[in-house]
Amino acid sequence: MKHKKRFYVLSILLLLGSIGYSQNQLPSALTDESIECVECHKSDDVSLYQQWGNSKHYGANVGCYECHQANEGDADAFDHYDYTISVIVSPTDCARCHENEVNEFVNSHHSKAGQIMGSLDNVLAEVVEGNNAFITPGFPHGNSAAAVNGCWQCHGSQVKVLEDGTLDPATWPNSGIGRINPDGSAGSCSACHQRHEFSIAQARRPENCGKCHLGPDHPQKEIYDESKHGINFYANVDKMNLESSKWVVGEDYSAAPTCATCHMSATENQNITHNIGLRIKWNNRPIHSKLSHETDEKWGLASASIHADKRRENMEDVCAACHNDNFTDNFFIQYEGLIDLYDRKFATPGEKLYKAALPLLRKDEDGNHIKFADPIDFTWFELWHHEGRRARHAASMMAPDYTHWHGTYDLAKNFYSKFIPEIEEIIVHGMKSNDKKDKKAAKELQKLLNKTLNSENHQWYLGKMDPVEKARRKKASDEFKARYK
Ligand code: HEC
Ligand code: HEC
Ligand code: HEC
Ligand code: HEC
Ligand code: HEC
Ligand code: HEC
Ligand code: HEC
Ligand code: HEC
Repeated sequence: MKHKKRFYVLSILLLLGSIGYSQNQLPSALTDESIECVECHKSDDVSLYQQWGNSKHYGANVGCYECHQANEGDADAFDHYDYTISVIVSPTDCARCHENEVNEFVNSHHSKAGQIMGSLDNVLAEVVEGNNAFITPGFPHGNSAAAVNGCWQCHGSQVKVLEDGTLDPATWPNSGIGRINPDGSAGSCSACHQRHEFSIAQARRPENCGKCHLGPDHPQKEIYDESKHGINFYANVDKMNLESSKWVVGEDYSAAPTCATCHMSATENQNITHNIGLRIKWNNRPIHSKLSHETDEKWGLASASIHADKRRENMEDVCAACHNDNFTDNFFIQYEGLIDLYDRKFATPGEKLYKAALPLLRKDEDGNHIKFADPIDFTWFELWHHEGRRARHAASMMAPDYTHWHGTYDLAKNFYSKFIPEIEEIIVHGMKSNDKKDKKAAKELQKLLNKTLNSENHQWYLGKMDPVEKARRKKASDEFKARYK
């Protein structure tokens, strides 16, 4: 026992250097308060107690009270057997001991993900898919159960404390990454660090990010699984050294990178970062890819001062642990080529056509466009928000199937077989209208459609291929036929 204690003191001293909290915040033994919590909870919450017992926190005497303690007057504080505690342990609470991680996280897009609610996707969850019938004590006018169970579980709810100190069931349980906490802080560390083990190995695994980064509009998990990196990860999990405290790519493991490796973890030259935006050049979420420092500026993030090119260098430094520069450079040239293709061929002309069609779509009493009331609203939304993102995301992370069959193929199919025919239908309808304004808008839309289809990227659709290109394609086709006689 004595030995064990001495070991803890030693490891605590070692840790002071690496994690950076001040000594007086760390108890040298489990505190009396936490011992009392444990005495009740070890029989009432057997697995919770077990998980905590497996954690590094247990080893460092960080007990229930060190995390759950609260001050009288905190919005979510309540009396619990002579103690003032709260259920929510917010980033501000973790910051007592992990200030750096919290600062980096708070300055990242992750902590802002709860503020997105109000976007176009919201109209979907609240109106098109949902209603306000989910009534809870804190929300007499209701919420949409689709938002509560869907969007909010990834992006985060605004946690509401009821008069008796309990948490409104519409807003908790919730570990959304940009959750807005009762103490005003943003985010939830347990979005990635599952309680009560707070295991580092669990955080480093791709499944961790895959709770949110998957599905039709951001299939990063599927993309990773398809890539050579995912293949090598699953084939070599036992060689990944996932439990090691020090986890420097190239030094402690080399079989494969996980999501964390590329976006967060240490390299020979870089420390761990909890700002997942510092290694990405492009933000591929909007209709047109934006440079990452530009979107950071829009969101008021301190990292706006770090140029996208510098972030690309940071990412290349990760690749350098396993690949040579030529390989990496050529890869990024391939990826940028796809961003360019998507933008020129689909995003730019598509957006122009959709905007020109807006005056002819269904309107409310005030003359405003009713979102998602015409088929083309869905078609255009999916073009950029689903397939357009998939193609770019997949190219950025080496997944050819998602780049092509779930990406550029779907883009082309939906552009030519749905979007263009829908534009044509809107024109026919507009031409028949008795309203002069509609007729004019339809004529303008027709002009734009003609111009688009006669442009280099789309003239094939009218059977008008450039003769040089046509000859080149015929030659290639003849060669192919000769080869496979
Ligand atoms: C005398 C026994 C006892 C002590 C001491 C005790 N708890 Fe509890 N605690 C319970 C029981 C029983 C529940 C379940 C109550 C319930 O479900 O309504 C509970 C519930 C909780 C909850 C969940 C509350 C909620 O609203 O979901 C938290 C968090 C908690 N305890 C933390 C602590 C901490 C931290 C301490 C030490 C400061 C502590 N407990 C001390 C018995 C105890
Ligand atoms: C390192 C910090 C930390 C420690 C130590 C810790 N907790 Fe927690 N606990 C959390 C976090 C984070 C949550 C998630 C709450 C939220 O949504 O923010 C949580 C949630 C809970 C809950 C509510 C969720 C549920 O599943 O019922 C209970 C009860 C609880 N903790 C009890 C305990 C007890 C008892 C101990 C000691 C054995 C303990 N905690 C130690 C951080 C901690
Ligand atoms: C009272 C101080 C304290 C608080 C509060 C605290 N931690 Fe820790 N945490 C520590 C110490 C000390 C260690 C290192 C233990 C070790 O390596 O032996 C640690 C380690 C960790 C680790 C690394 C685990 C590993 O396997 O290497 C994670 C992740 C972590 N904490 C997350 C959190 C989160 C999230 C919160 C808030 C919900 C939190 N901590 C609250 C003190 C604290
Ligand atoms: C499975 C988890 C999940 C669900 C459910 C979810 N999202 Fe997202 N959302 C994400 C992730 C992950 C991203 C970031 C994707 C990326 O970086 O490629 C994102 C991105 C977004 C963006 C773009 C943000 C930006 O910076 O441009 C908006 C807006 C958005 N989501 C709103 C919503 C709304 C509204 C709902 C519900 C209708 C919803 N999301 C449902 C995980 C989710
Ligand atoms: C997006 C997922 C994610 C979120 C959110 C997240 N972490 Fe982490 N965290 C990780 C990963 C992955 C690692 C492991 C990095 C490594 O060792 O390569 C880690 C490591 C840590 C460590 C150990 C650091 C070290 O130097 O060994 C601490 C402490 C920690 N996180 C605290 C927090 C706190 C506090 C929060 C909330 C502000 C938080 N994390 C939010 C993914 C996350
Ligand atoms: C609980 C849900 C959730 C988890 C878990 C999660 N993310 Fe995210 N992530 C999001 C959402 C939502 C966004 C979009 C936020 C926004 O645009 O404001 C996002 C955005 C990002 C971005 C874009 C950042 C930028 O600056 O543009 C990266 C990169 C990222 N996540 C990587 C990761 C990695 C790596 C992990 C795992 C270690 C992870 N995420 C875990 C929800 C999550
Ligand atoms: C081999 C390194 C590598 C791995 C592994 C990796 N990524 Fe990425 N990720 C990248 C690169 C490179 C980009 C594009 C960066 C740029 O645009 O400059 C990117 C971009 C992203 C983005 C930004 C998407 C947007 O909408 O702008 C997210 C989110 C993301 N990755 C999440 C993940 C998740 C989740 C995993 C694991 C399932 C993962 N990544 C695995 C290298 C990696
Ligand atoms: C921890 C080591 C490691 C890191 C870091 C790493 N890779 Fe890889 N990468 C691999 C392995 C292993 C393979 C599979 C090699 C093979 O094809 O046999 C691979 C394959 C690739 C391939 C070939 C894909 C294919 O389908 O043939 C590309 C491209 C690639 N990596 C790019 C990158 C880029 C870009 C980065 C940095 C953002 C990166 N890698 C980071 C280990 C790594």
